[in-house]
Amino acid sequence: MSADDPRRIDGVGALSVLRRGLAASPELSAGAWQTALMALSVAGSKLLVPLLIQLVMDLSITDGGVRMGRTVVLCLVALALVLASIQLGRVTYFRLVRTAEDVLLGLRTRAFAHLHRLSLAEHTASRKGVLTARVTSDVETLTQFAQWGAVAWIIDSVQIVAVVAIMAVYSWQLTLVVLVLHVPLVPILKWMQSRQLLAYEELRTRVSDTLAIVSESVHGVEAVRAYGYREPMRRRIRNAIDAQYDQQMVAARYFSLVMPTADVFGVMAVAAVVGTGVWWGDAWGISSGELVAFVFLCNLLIAPITEIGEVLDQTQTALAGWWKVLDVLDTEVDLVDPVVPVALAAGPMDVRAEGVEFGYREGGRVLHGIDVVLPAGASVAVVGETGSGKTTFARLLARLADPTAGRVLVGGVDLREADPDDRRRAIRMVPQDGFLFDTSIAENVRYGRAGATSEDVDAAVAELGLTAWVEGLVDGIHTRVGERGEGLSVGERQLVALARAQLADPGLLVLDEATSAVDPETETTLERAMERLAAGRTTVSVAHRLSTAERADLVLVFDDGWIVESGPHDELVALGGVYSGLYASWLGGTRDPA
Ligand SMILES: Nc1ncnc2c1ncn2[C@@H]1O[C@H](COP(=O)(O)OP(=O)(O)O)[C@@H](O)[C@H]1O
Ligand SMILES: [Mg+2]
Repeated sequence: MSADDPRRIDGVGALSVLRRGLAASPELSAGAWQTALMALSVAGSKLLVPLLIQLVMDLSITDGGVRMGRTVVLCLVALALVLASIQLGRVTYFRLVRTAEDVLLGLRTRAFAHLHRLSLAEHTASRKGVLTARVTSDVETLTQFAQWGAVAWIIDSVQIVAVVAIMAVYSWQLTLVVLVLHVPLVPILKWMQSRQLLAYEELRTRVSDTLAIVSESVHGVEAVRAYGYREPMRRRIRNAIDAQYDQQMVAARYFSLVMPTADVFGVMAVAAVVGTGVWWGDAWGISSGELVAFVFLCNLLIAPITEIGEVLDQTQTALAGWWKVLDVLDTEVDLVDPVVPVALAAGPMDVRAEGVEFGYREGGRVLHGIDVVLPAGASVAVVGETGSGKTTFARLLARLADPTAGRVLVGGVDLREADPDDRRRAIRMVPQDGFLFDTSIAENVRYGRAGATSEDVDAAVAELGLTAWVEGLVDGIHTRVGERGEGLSVGERQLVALARAQLADPGLLVLDEATSAVDPETETTLERAMERLAAGRTTVSVAHRLSTAERADLVLVFDDGWIVESGPHDELVALGGVYSGLYASWLGGTRDPA
């Protein structure tokens, strides 16, 4: 198996996955007992037929001839039992599927809930992809397995064990003969199955090759004609189709091999049983009824073995998927809610960072020794080059992560101690991409505060001076924004995000300005909206437009994770340091020199 093989679990056996899985899913053990019992009775009922045949032969066929009465009674009993077993089988299957679905539902719910508890700062783009895959496609692998593989394992393994046990009661010698003949079957089936999978994978490649060449020849029809390239093109297509045909045959050959191979083993086992049974039967004390029953039992052995061989591969994939989902559940939650929550006051709040350091799970430290005091009601601009730690600093202020050293106090309360509900109400972060959900503008704004009415939404929009903009849209405030807000421009998405923050009415507002350019008209609307939103609150803006910094009371200049300069705009320009450099290049580039 290669490193990215989905079936790979590093140094972990099926048993440890099971143990961990059982611990994580209480539903599993709850339903498992009953399910196992019922599977046992289903397998048992299949064994009735050979048992009854043995009884009929040994009890009804005597030296004096056939006792019809006994035979008929036994046959009726057999009929009743077989019918009952069919019904039991239905019930069992239903129970199995229900248990499996309960387990998966629980697993999915818990994995999702856990994802939401993880520190947001851990969610890098690639981690997000991985984590989403865990709760979607990995759980899906498990679902597929539950519908066939898991059921097959339970019913088949019970049947195999029961058949072998009954065989052993009849005659351990014959049982040994049967087992020895079946042992090679499992590795052979496993080998054939892996070849078959490879063959089908190869076939898929061939099919897409053919499609690509055909599509190319159609799209490039002018070039093909113009350069007289028809004959070579035709040859390429014919070759691709031939290759696909050959591969189809290879795949079919493996497929057609499986059933006959299993049958060969079955027939060999039966022949061996009949041969040895007839030869040594008397010496081993085997009755003719038992011998016939043995032949039937052999046939009950081959089907479950073949089926288990078929689900082996699926099982490996499912176990690996299960392990990965369990890994999500085991990822440590590092944002712990306080035991004794401290309330946050309403109104503008001051912010103090004391010896704050931070590093993401991957990579080194990105913030070093941050010590700042931001007075209540101040507007603060955070500037610095890309990667200097501005967004990270903003995240810590909203407690999307905790500092690895030092502490952040808002309104005099350590964020780790602050009441989570208060924190969500009183501190708002407008992220850089102003994430919107795929619904209307009104709904997106309404997310700002639980229980907000349409009037509240309209009021928030009006307070930021956005009514005219909203009314200019196709459906006004009910315009849908599309997936992730793709229906709006970057600047418009930010407007919606600002209205959302306005509705929340926080005492501390943290804004991460978008880096991408915004058209001049939206820019003006944005600046005005931001100014209104900032009124009466402490505002920390990660500023990419230095016009924001020009207006701010205080500018913090970040460089490589350190705050290298801080003070009002004019002072910093006069200082002639990092900030004056940034400002000069901004004046020269973005802003019209006039
Ligand atoms: N989620 C993350 N996981 C790991 N490293 C990150 C993450 N986010 C940012 N970083 C790293 O932290 C440093 C600071 O990034 P950031 O705070 O986004 O800077 P800025 O906002 O100033 O561009 C960069 O080196 C960046 O690569
Ligand atoms: Mg940033």
